[in-house]
Amino acid sequence: MRAESRTLGLFAMVLTVCAAGVLWLTLVSDGPIPVLPVLVFGAVAFLSESFSVELPGTAAMSVGFVSIIAAIVLCGPSGAAVVAACGAITPADVRAVTSKLVLLVNLDTYIVASVAAGWVYVWTGGRPLLVVTTAMRIPGLLASVFAASAVLFSVNIAAVAIGVLLRHGNTALRDFFKIALHWIPNYAALTVLGFVLAYVYRSASVAGVALAVVPLAVAHQTFQVYMKLREAYQSTVRSLVAAIEAKDAYTRGHSERVADYAEATARQLGMSEDAVDKLKVAALLHDLGKLGIQRRILSKTGRLTEDEFGLMQEHPELATAILRDVSFLEDIIPAIYHHHEHYDGSGYVRNLKGEQIPLTARILAVADAYDAMISARPYRDALTPEMAAAELVSCSGSQFDRKAVDALLAATGVQPQLAEEIGIAEGQLRFVDETT
Ligand SMILES: [Fe+2]
Ligand SMILES: [Fe+2]
Repeated sequence: MRAESRTLGLFAMVLTVCAAGVLWLTLVSDGPIPVLPVLVFGAVAFLSESFSVELPGTAAMSVGFVSIIAAIVLCGPSGAAVVAACGAITPADVRAVTSKLVLLVNLDTYIVASVAAGWVYVWTGGRPLLVVTTAMRIPGLLASVFAASAVLFSVNIAAVAIGVLLRHGNTALRDFFKIALHWIPNYAALTVLGFVLAYVYRSASVAGVALAVVPLAVAHQTFQVYMKLREAYQSTVRSLVAAIEAKDAYTRGHSERVADYAEATARQLGMSEDAVDKLKVAALLHDLGKLGIQRRILSKTGRLTEDEFGLMQEHPELATAILRDVSFLEDIIPAIYHHHEHYDGSGYVRNLKGEQIPLTARILAVADAYDAMISARPYRDALTPEMAAAELVSCSGSQFDRKAVDALLAATGVQPQLAEEIGIAEGQLRFVDETT
């Protein structure tokens, strides 16, 4: 048995003991479970988990969470555990998962998370509406529901995080947490929906829930459409990158690397996730305008003549002309249009200066130049990262924004090499003026 399987087996065993323990405790302390609501919400949980929407990265999202919240509010921890178990293993999971241990871990996680959430609901003053008939104030109940929801979310996230760590390592775990943070508002909305559904069931029983499930199905459908649009968006970007690379052999891999450097720099500067995402797309497409430049010029092995250089300098405007009519890509135009401006105003296309240049364009300029310098060209060898860093530092404040250069070096951990150590005069390190 491989070490990875042994770790998973041990993890599954510990989790199963915990799940059995908390389930037994809650069944003993809660008394009989209301059968009809558990059946109804168990069916909703199973159906919604069976039609969950794949999220980019490592996980899927479903509205099954709503059923568990409704079950906590109506029946308490034990009812919630049964409802959660109904949605824990779907036919698709059985087909997709190679190790049955993963299914067991899923089931255990659902049980532990829902019982823990149910207990928090009760400990914070919430009462199961079908078990305790005394009137309760809605604001107090809502506070308990949100406390329970936070536990349900956190335990699930923690369990998935352990799985991601075991199977894919630290980097994947960091990416997973970044994605998971974005889910919080969605799950807050699903919590309110679960609470409303519980009240609807209490007032109108199964018929009420049948009606209330319609908006749930619509929400599910809307989410699916959103994910399809997102996929279409990513395919468009991928196709455009492929077109650029087909035209200019030099750019093969360049766009992705510039996107990675730009992303690392933007994160180092503390930019929002949304801004980082847009910058990544801008970086992938920053050379799009080269589609309109003659191949003869793009693939010329010698230095460009003044006229050729003039034509090459049109590429930010050509890219803008291509992107202007693509509504979902128009946000990335400023970064691409201005990625050859210099911090001191000596660049092109508008001779903008300093902070007049969009921050995204300043970051892109540094990432683009760095990758160009550490890549070999037909007429010169690649610079080492340390030499390229020295060049970026020497051009900080003139060609580049010092802040962006410092952030890129901090993010990559590259130390600039001193010009005298390289053994050539500083003036000779002038590769960054190339149109990249
Ligand atoms: Fe460029
Ligand atoms: Fe470039």
